Amino acid sequence: MPRRRIAAVFVRPRLPGGFLPARTTSLRTVAALLFAVQATGVLAQLPEPTELVDQQHCMFCHTLDAPFLAPSFHQIADRYRTVPNASAMLEEKLVHGGKAHWGDMAMPLPEDRGGPLSPKDAQTLVQWVLSQ
Ligand code: HEC
Repeated sequence: MPRRRIAAVFVRPRLPGGFLPARTTSLRTVAALLFAVQATGVLAQLPEPTELVDQQHCMFCHTLDAPFLAPSFHQIADRYRTVPNASAMLEEKLVHGGKAHWGDMAMPLPEDRGGPLSPKDAQTLVQWVLSQ
């Protein structure tokens, strides 16, 4: 992997904005809101499909919460959580590849990550990533 391209991923992450409510909302309200959302399980994290993650070497480039060679799974979840049909697009991309959405470096195809990936396994992985 050429170094310059990796740097581009670091330097130009297009961070999703606008998650925080209006500035006038007090922190307490935000905390209460987050608690309420968590209590209803909307943000519940799915268990890691470890075998798939290992077989496809996802954590070689990604981490859960810090951008590394690739956007973190938290960043990805924040960006796509509210986007309609995002999971279908991401599943397709995991299996067949597609153009880069975060920088210049596209994600390698399954064959280059450790072996073919079935659409069902792609779905499992995407649901897990989006629950982060
Ligand atoms: C060799 C490095 C590498 C590996 C291994 C890898 N990724 Fe990625 N991934 C990337 C890069 C680089 C991007 C940013 C691509 C872009 O700009 O869309 C990315 C982007 C993504 C995205 C967001 C795609 C988009 O269109 O916004 C998802 C979801 C994702 N990866 C999931 C995974 C999962 C799940 C695995 C394991 C099956 C995995 N990645 C393995 C490098 C990797």
